[in-house]
Amino acid sequence: MHYFVYCNGTLHAEDVSIPAIAEKVGTPFYCYSTATLTRHYLVFREALQGLDASICFAMKANSNLAVVHTLADLGAGADVVSGGELELALKAGVPANKIVFSGVGKTEDEIRLALNYDVAQLNVESEEELDTLSRVAAELGKTVRVALRVNPDVDAKTHDKISTGRKGDKFGIDWELAPRLYKKAGALPGIEPSAIAVHIGSQITSLAPFEAAFKRVHDLVVMLRKDGHKIDHLDLGGGLGVPYDHGNDAHPPSPAEYGAMVKRTLGDLGCKMMFEPGRLIVGNAGILVTRVISLKQTTNRRFVIVDAGMNDLVRPAMYGAHHEILPVMEAPPSPGASPADIVGPVCETTDRFAQDYRLPPLAAGDLLAILTAGAYGAVMASTYNARPLVPEVLVNGDQYAVVRRRPTLEEMVALESLPPWLADTKAYGRRRAP
Ligand code: LLP
Repeated sequence: MHYFVYCNGTLHAEDVSIPAIAEKVGTPFYCYSTATLTRHYLVFREALQGLDASICFAMKANSNLAVVHTLADLGAGADVVSGGELELALKAGVPANKIVFSGVGKTEDEIRLALNYDVAQLNVESEEELDTLSRVAAELGKTVRVALRVNPDVDAKTHDKISTGRKGDKFGIDWELAPRLYKKAGALPGIEPSAIAVHIGSQITSLAPFEAAFKRVHDLVVMLRKDGHKIDHLDLGGGLGVPYDHGNDAHPPSPAEYGAMVKRTLGDLGCKMMFEPGRLIVGNAGILVTRVISLKQTTNRRFVIVDAGMNDLVRPAMYGAHHEILPVMEAPPSPGASPADIVGPVCETTDRFAQDYRLPPLAAGDLLAILTAGAYGAVMASTYNARPLVPEVLVNGDQYAVVRRRPTLEEMVALESLPPWLADTKAYGRRRAP
């Protein structure tokens, strides 16, 4: 459910027409909808009613300050995986006591930063990290709540590249080792072990893998409590999938079904629960708007070449992900339209948003919207081919604002400098033309 809808034949984000934004901002650009963000957050919160639950938005999905601020105003905390995300979460108004620091490789500096800000919890991913955390906490005279992130050895049945909970994946602590580490953690200074964390992957479209992982967590908690350990928090990660390509992909379970499953499997433990949804909150709340540069017919294929590229939205190139694409100007269904590949201008064959895709007849200058681009879109963008990062626009009702502008070329190269041996342009010229 989202608020990108046609109104009098033109795609709108809430009450704002997409061509009007394109006119002002230029293309390509990301466009987010406040009403959609809000709705997703509230629907998820509603699904967790009856649990002592907090929602820590996974900043890795979208760390735009305005987006995170919108969620923070609704009461969201944040799940961060770097010092940068931690600083951004705080800047966006998320209080430190609602921030969980997870991530498989935290540097000592990042651990120190998190402890100095007094974040709510650190999720530990290895014995070595536990030792480092204890040492740094003791140095700073702090005690921090710690979750052991366990690897439950469950296949999330999602894309291989975004599965995280199988034996052999780099994430978490083998769940068989957790009792020993938990005991060790209890004896270390600066550490207050009181939680188990688990996250088995992303874009998960059935409840079964969640349930298998959560049952394992349940058994572990019972076992640890028998050993005399206190466990009063669970961090259940994110991962619930969203529909990307209507009609074509598996329909993910609803948040309500997910919430009911959590209650069923873990509700009896009396733990406070944290959830780290990313995609579920922001995925369908964003689109990438792009303009057709040209049409190209080769002997055997038709291409629509657009001005957005894999550097702007890498998911199709990286994971073979499908995103639904809509013409911004509504057109009656044209079953006769021949399929085309929708491709970007980047010099890579994999720079392709869709293959054999049917769209109404298009011409250079037409606008297209690539849907469900709010999660893992802008955050994964790069400047490959010296293409500037695209702007991000946030709509709220009939208002919109550019919440990240397009950088100038000067800004893009501002961090570069010539080494002394090239700084003299005359010498440089001589080297180039002997
Ligand atoms: N918590 C942890 C520990 C995570 O590693 C992740 C995602 C999340 C929460 C949020 O998961 P979500 O609710 O968004 O599924 N770039 C990939 C997705 C990578 C997900 C990484 N971890 C993609 O575009 O599909």
